[in-house]
Amino acid sequence: MNNAEIKALGEQCCLNVFNRLPIAMVRGEGSYVWDADGNKYLDFVGGIAVNALGHSHPAVAEALSVQAGQLIHASNLYWLESQVKLAAMLVENSDFDKVFFGNSGAEANEGAIKLARKYSQYRGYADRLDVITMNNSFHGRTLATLTATGQDKMHKGFEPLAAGFKYAPYNNWEALLEQVDEHTCAIMLEPVQGEGGVYPAETEFLQKLRRLCDERDIILIFDEVQTGMGRTGKLFAYQHSGIVPDIMTLAKALGGGAPIGAFLTTDRVAAAFKPGDHGSTFGGNPLVCAAGVAVMQVMLQEKLPEMAAATGDYLKARFAEWVDKYDCVLGVRGQGLLLGLQLAIPGADIVKRCLDKGLLINCTAGTVLRFIPPLNISRAEADEFLTVLESVLEEVC
Ligand SMILES: Cc1ncc(COP(=O)(O)O)c(C=O)c1O
Repeated sequence: MNNAEIKALGEQCCLNVFNRLPIAMVRGEGSYVWDADGNKYLDFVGGIAVNALGHSHPAVAEALSVQAGQLIHASNLYWLESQVKLAAMLVENSDFDKVFFGNSGAEANEGAIKLARKYSQYRGYADRLDVITMNNSFHGRTLATLTATGQDKMHKGFEPLAAGFKYAPYNNWEALLEQVDEHTCAIMLEPVQGEGGVYPAETEFLQKLRRLCDERDIILIFDEVQTGMGRTGKLFAYQHSGIVPDIMTLAKALGGGAPIGAFLTTDRVAAAFKPGDHGSTFGGNPLVCAAGVAVMQVMLQEKLPEMAAATGDYLKARFAEWVDKYDCVLGVRGQGLLLGLQLAIPGADIVKRCLDKGLLINCTAGTVLRFIPPLNISRAEADEFLTVLESVLEEVC
């Protein structure tokens, strides 16, 4: 099937909820992807921060194929080797003690919220149910995580929303304090707001949050679904801040493209959950966890977080020049290879023009170009990206 045929069949049969570009992806290798008409693209979207190792990384493909030949699924009624191996690697390389696996970012966040609420009950705080999240955040599309997402436009039409959520402005300490009261059970935020437009949290804000949560026995949740797994230049973004949250959620890059989510926590908080409190049929399935183990091995062996930091600095330096050079470029934000270029104009036309020139980029929050390529892109690929994008800026700015 070609692009047009796939699109036509999709329009007939697939629910119309995505604003899709009119191409169909059929093959990927490293930092490149090909559509059904044979066109090749340099991929600076990376499956929205999923393909941290690039497309079809041989180690991930091999792990999936070997595992598929051995055992694809059993059940969490039993111990599963690749699941416990992945959990052990995550524990060993973080400040957490226990891991629960689900299937997506939203499901990881749902689990984190449930654990925070259960922890409050376990500690005897019967009327502590509220979770405070940040304005402009993004935590998922299930009913609870949609409610946690601090964007009114996403709530419209889905009321009644889940009870027990409040919102505060990001990086605004005084305003956050106004929301905290005796009913506060947890505070949940992204260390860098990704979908909201690539806004990093200030370190001082995070440190104050940690102190507040310690003083009041409130659970601090970091949603690292997008920032986790090396994206910001450290394996986990919390490692930039000098503090450790009580719960961290992961998904996206954890499986290198295999659908997996997870939340990690400390033994102190994990004690609130007993058998039967949470679960998932597919969560921690042997197949996706085998992919996760391969991702972790490559990430650690090839020092991909460090590589992301170095390439990110290289790109940021060029972006900074563009802020002076092009009227339509207002600023650059982000860490590692989660970078945003703030525009003075809508970004959709730039995305389309880049596509026509064989470069995939993404626009978020209307006017922010977001770049989330594989963490192992080469300098030559980074230069190719800069050349194409600058040629488009020359046209439109
Ligand atoms: C920070 C953050 N949390 C949660 C999610 C939801 O993840 P999923 O789409 O896997 O449910 C996303 C997805 O973009 C995200 O960026």
